[in-house]
Amino acid sequence: MELDKMWNEARRSGWAMGQLPYARRMDLIPYYAGQLGWEAVGTRAGEGPVSVLRPRDQAEARAETMSAVYGLDAQPLHVDGSHMIRPPEVIILVSEEPNGTPTRIWKPEPQGLDWDAARHGVFTVGAGKSAFLAPALEPDGWRYDPVIMKPADERARQVADHLNSEPNLKATEVPWDEENSVLVVANRLVMHGRAAVSESDRGRKLVRMAFNIRSAK
Ligand SMILES: [Fe+2]
Repeated sequence: MELDKMWNEARRSGWAMGQLPYARRMDLIPYYAGQLGWEAVGTRAGEGPVSVLRPRDQAEARAETMSAVYGLDAQPLHVDGSHMIRPPEVIILVSEEPNGTPTRIWKPEPQGLDWDAARHGVFTVGAGKSAFLAPALEPDGWRYDPVIMKPADERARQVADHLNSEPNLKATEVPWDEENSVLVVANRLVMHGRAAVSESDRGRKLVRMAFNIRSAK
């Protein structure tokens, strides 16, 4: 696994799949990322930059998470950290054991999308005191998560309709069929989401890490 090469591929096509250089050594990833000058960031309150993702049904999930709304069903396609002022540029998912639930990935295409509306339609992000306004497409890339972003004008509504339907038709399913797999996602270039989890795959476990590749402005 060469993280810089995987990132170069992800920057072009949206994602890259590879293998840990040594079995069960995912602790090497933050080290490699540090060598590239990337900054590890936490995407969930109360958690560090490394999260363990497990399937949760609605009753088990923490409030205001995707699992609280969708449970074991397919997740809507989204950008991780959309609730953050600066969503991370790189998401790395690691699975030591193969599992049968793919990650779905979709790169918005030039056709069929009103890019002007994506850049200028306004969404309310989050709720309460920390809520803010943002478009789905910013100079640094996409911000979209239908659980926490609600359209605040007509153009945003149109963009949300597109983003909520189009990916379901065209997303690529990336399988987790090898041991020690590493998926590098260009988080602001594509949207991703877990496919529906079958009962036999309830033990699925992914580790997620998030990074910014440029220092904060
Ligand atoms: Fe995600």
